[in-house]
Amino acid sequence: MGIGMGQDAAGAGVTARTAGTAQGLAAEGRAASLTELWSRENPRSAALHARARRLLPGGVTHDVRLAEPFPLAVTTASGSRKQDADGHELICYVLGHGALLLGHGRPEVVAAVREQATRSFHPGACHELEAEWADLVIRLVPSAERVRFTASGTEASLLALRLARAATGRAKIVKLDGHFHGWHDQVATGADPPFETPNTAGLPPGTAGSVVTVPAEADALAAALADGDVAAVIMEPSGAAWATVPLPAGFLADARRLADSHGVLLVFDEVVTGFRWAPGGVQEACGVRPDLTVLGKILAGGMPGGAVAGRGEVMDLLAGPAAGPRRVAHPGTHNAHPVSAAAGVATLRLAASGEAQDKPARLAATLRGELTAVFAECGVAGRAYGESSTFHLLFGPDAPDELDPATLKAGLAAPLSAALHCGMLRRGVHLFHGSGFLSTAHTERDAEQTVAALAVTLRQLQAEGLA
Ligand SMILES: Cc1ncc(COP(=O)(O)O)c(C=O)c1O
Repeated sequence: MGIGMGQDAAGAGVTARTAGTAQGLAAEGRAASLTELWSRENPRSAALHARARRLLPGGVTHDVRLAEPFPLAVTTASGSRKQDADGHELICYVLGHGALLLGHGRPEVVAAVREQATRSFHPGACHELEAEWADLVIRLVPSAERVRFTASGTEASLLALRLARAATGRAKIVKLDGHFHGWHDQVATGADPPFETPNTAGLPPGTAGSVVTVPAEADALAAALADGDVAAVIMEPSGAAWATVPLPAGFLADARRLADSHGVLLVFDEVVTGFRWAPGGVQEACGVRPDLTVLGKILAGGMPGGAVAGRGEVMDLLAGPAAGPRRVAHPGTHNAHPVSAAAGVATLRLAASGEAQDKPARLAATLRGELTAVFAECGVAGRAYGESSTFHLLFGPDAPDELDPATLKAGLAAPLSAALHCGMLRRGVHLFHGSGFLSTAHTERDAEQTVAALAVTLRQLQAEGLA
C-alpha cells in the first residue's frame, strides 16, 4: 500500500514532487549550500549553541548531538512532531534516541508522571511501582525471571557484565565488532571503526586485556569463547546499531549453542530493541533466549532508566548478604526512580499487546520502500533499509549485505551527512544521523511528507555534487 498517495507513491508522485526542485533551487540561489541555508534559517538554534559552547564542552550533552553547522534546539514536542527553537515544525524520527515508542507526550504517560511527581518524587524507600514495573518486564521479556533497575542503559550493561563475572568466576568479556553497549570502560573497544581500538581516551591500561572483540561470525565467536576464561558474550541481537549492521542468518542460535558449550553467559543488549522489535524484544521475535538482558529507553517511557533482567540464580547474586561470597554490589540513588517507574509502567502496559510494535513497523516497512523508490527516481544510488519500526538511509550502489561492518557502522561521510540532515530539516523532517525510529503516533501523512522531503533533498544534494 502507498503512503496515502495511492499508486503514485513510488512513481509519478515522486516525479511530480521533484519537478519543482530546479525552480526552488534557482529561487534559493544556487550558491548557497543546504547547510548555509539551514544556518540562516535557524538563528535561535545558532544563538543557543553559541551560548552552550561557552558553558558545555562542545556545546552539547551527548556526543551524538554534535552536528554541523550547529546542533538543532527544540522547544516542544507532541505525538510524531516537534517545534524547533526557530518555530519550524518537524516530523521527529529521533524520538528520545528511540525511547518514545508511543511518540512524544502520550497522554497516559504524561498523566502517570504528573500523578507520581505530586505523590512522591523520590521517597528514598521501596515503592509500589517498582514491583509493578518489574512484573511487566517479566511478563513481556521471555528470559526475564528477575529484574534489577538502574538509571541508564550504560549502567545496566555494566551491571550485566559484573553479574556474569561473579556468576562464572571468570574474567573476560567477548563483544562483537560495531556493537554498542553504552559508554563504560569495558565496552569502549570495538564500538566504532576501527574496531581494534577503543573509541575514547582515558581508559585504565588493564581494560583492554579483559575484553575481546570479534566479528559477528560463528567461527570467530567459537574461537574467542574457547579461551576458557570468558564470563559473557554480549551483543545487540538486532545486529549493531539497531540492525544498521545486520547479523548473519542463524547467528543468534549459534551464539546460544556456543555459549552453552563453553559455560559462558549470553547477554542480549536490548536497550533499543526491547519492547520495539516485539513486546518481548528480539528474543521474542527470534526465539533465542539469553541468560541476561540489558534494557533501557522504552523501558522507562522516555524518562531516565535501565534494567538487567534474567535468570533467577544469576540475578539473585544481587540479593545482598544472602547471596553469599559471590554477592554483587549495586547501589544507585536513582535506581527505579518513581517518576521513571510511572512512565515505564504506563508505557509497558500500552506496549504489551503487540499493536504498539506492529503499527509503526508496518508504516516503517512502507516508508523504507517509498524512500528506496525515491533514490531510484532521482537517479541517486542508494536505498532505505532496516527492520522493525526503524529505517537507515544508505548511499551508494551496494546493498547492506555487500558492505563490510565497518563501512555500514561508519555511516554517511561528513559533508553528505550534514547536507542531508540540513536538507531534510528544511523540509520539516528530523532524521537521526540518516536513520530514524517510528512511533505509534506516526501517520501516513508524516511518511508522505518524509518521502517528498527526501525527493527534494536528493535533487539538492545532486546539485551540490554530494550525491
Ligand atoms: C544498544 C545500546 N546499549 C546501551 C546503550 C546505552 O544506554 P544509555 O544511553 O541509556 O546509557 C545504548 C544507547 O543508545 C544503546 O543503543
